[in-house]
Amino acid sequence: MLGVCYYPEHWDEKIWADDARRMREMGISFVRIGEFAWSRLEPKRGAYDFGWLDRAMDVLGKAGLKIVLGTPTATPPKWLMDEHPDIAPVDEQGRARGFGSRRHYSFSSETYARESATIIEALAKRYGNHKALAGWQTDNEYGCHLTVLSWGLEDLKAFRNYLRKKYQTTDQLNEAWGNVFWSMELNSFDEVSLPNLTVTETNPAARLDFWRFQSDQVAAYDKMQCDIIRKHSPGRFITHNFMGFFNEFDHWKLGENLDLASWDSYPVGFTEQFPFSEVDHVTWAETAHPDIAAFHHDLYRGVGRGRFWVMEQMPGPVNWAPWNPVPKPGMIRLWTWEALAHGAEVVSYFRWRQAPFAQEQNHAGLNMAGLSELSVGGQEAQQVGQELKKLGDLPKSQQAPVAIVYDYEASWITRIQPQGRDFLYHELVFRWYEAVRRLGLDVDFVPPGHDLKGYKLVLVPSLPHVSDAALKVFEKATGVVLYGPRTGSKTRNFAIPQGLPPGPLRELISTRITQVSSLRPGVVEAVKGKVAGKAERWREYLETNAEVLAQFANKDAALIANANHHYLACWADENLLHATILLMSKKAKLKTYALPPHIRIRQRGEYSFAFNYGTKNWALPSKAKPILGKKSLEPQAIAIWRN
Ligand code: GAL
Repeated sequence: MLGVCYYPEHWDEKIWADDARRMREMGISFVRIGEFAWSRLEPKRGAYDFGWLDRAMDVLGKAGLKIVLGTPTATPPKWLMDEHPDIAPVDEQGRARGFGSRRHYSFSSETYARESATIIEALAKRYGNHKALAGWQTDNEYGCHLTVLSWGLEDLKAFRNYLRKKYQTTDQLNEAWGNVFWSMELNSFDEVSLPNLTVTETNPAARLDFWRFQSDQVAAYDKMQCDIIRKHSPGRFITHNFMGFFNEFDHWKLGENLDLASWDSYPVGFTEQFPFSEVDHVTWAETAHPDIAAFHHDLYRGVGRGRFWVMEQMPGPVNWAPWNPVPKPGMIRLWTWEALAHGAEVVSYFRWRQAPFAQEQNHAGLNMAGLSELSVGGQEAQQVGQELKKLGDLPKSQQAPVAIVYDYEASWITRIQPQGRDFLYHELVFRWYEAVRRLGLDVDFVPPGHDLKGYKLVLVPSLPHVSDAALKVFEKATGVVLYGPRTGSKTRNFAIPQGLPPGPLRELISTRITQVSSLRPGVVEAVKGKVAGKAERWREYLETNAEVLAQFANKDAALIANANHHYLACWADENLLHATILLMSKKAKLKTYALPPHIRIRQRGEYSFAFNYGTKNWALPSKAKPILGKKSLEPQAIAIWRN
């Protein structure tokens, strides 16, 4: 269940065999290679050099390792960029983004699609049936370094085609976008421009379509890769390594191309980047916040339709966050076990050996810079290897009792028209997730419109556009459902629904929303009733026939219930949110725990796991007899027991 990312092209061939042997010895069975190696695979146009990769794959395979081969398309080589400068992505200010790092291509470049197809086909034909090959990774972290939205001529050309197909006539386009406003009407699709470089705000409907279009371009580019691979490499899985808190394209859609999802877990860096309070930043600086990694395990298990890997697990300090502390002793082991508890099939560390050169020289590896000597993180990984050997196979994950509906468009819509600067979708969903996890409940993420059968509690933190498909499953849901602010507030074409929000949900919750108010920091409204706390950032004004469970100070409804459907009319502070989620869990008849902030638990089949992110011991439930770990769970320790 362990893997590692390896770059044979970075090291003398003479040490490959020893590296491979040491990987096996520490319990590693998978090795991902190749994803940035284009300049070594094809140093000049058409002059392939596969010799080194042949030898590397043989050496790794002979040692008993199974290989995941990455397509090298995240790093087009210099000769290609010089031949075709139009491949480069263009930033929102209209500047081409240059050669010299990575991801320097636009998803709309037809030239690049062709060039990618050629190298992938060559690789797939040569290695598709290699004995040691387990599967493929397409590209590397689509969209990393903000490369989904590109604003060049290639993008414009493709966007016009997309709109032509979607709207057929400019009348329909004008109608859908509301182009009568500010004389934005167009007479031909050739008049469409990209929604950038305008004097003030661009039309939100245009912007949303542009985002959808670019998101589709990513999925289509990926599908092109998958189709070629499947043709030449039957029986091998295909995955892609997604990122943390990354909403730039629709991962549900792209996930349909793949056999399993994978993601790159750098919890300390993600904690640094997340809008936590200063106090929280300090508290979690060297362990990461206890929900950061778990949130993504659950999300990507969903994207992979039940199957996911961690393709890159941080093995120590990284190089790219504002601060990059050494994780507390035990954390590399803890994160590995936590991923497994959440259903990961494999946890693969990034990277085998720290590179003493180039951009990532300050990024730890399982081995210290340039050496064949395990780092602290390497030793912890080795420990997990031994523990796994003792424990044997882990049971299968089961459906969780709680579903969170996660929507990429919700992120786009609330960023295109924030209305309140701090209405951050990813933060909102994370806070709801945290509140459920503090109750000891397991969570599945599902896309809007996904079957909700079997879920006792369904949380919809915010879903501005409620599609017909989403509405249908909400109507059929038998569990307790809670919708959050802005749900149903926009149509598919980014307009306010006829008859006011929550649009299609009006009947289900017997309510309409007449006003919304965004609240600057420091402006709060008290909420009281069956739950209590404060509204901050955002508050809505409801006209409702539903049962009122809690009210704002002026007696307006803040939380309502209509049969099993509930609506929370604000951004809730921690107290209000936790009380609301607890109330919903009770209504759903779920058994909850009151976990301290630093403890999390999770079920995988008949195994229970506990993780301690804090500084104080925690006593396992009295009946638990640990098969790994101790009854008194120490800081940064883990425990496993049978239910
Ligand atoms: C990931 C990326 C890797 C490496 C790593 C550093 O985002 O896939 O190639 O850059 O970050 O933490």
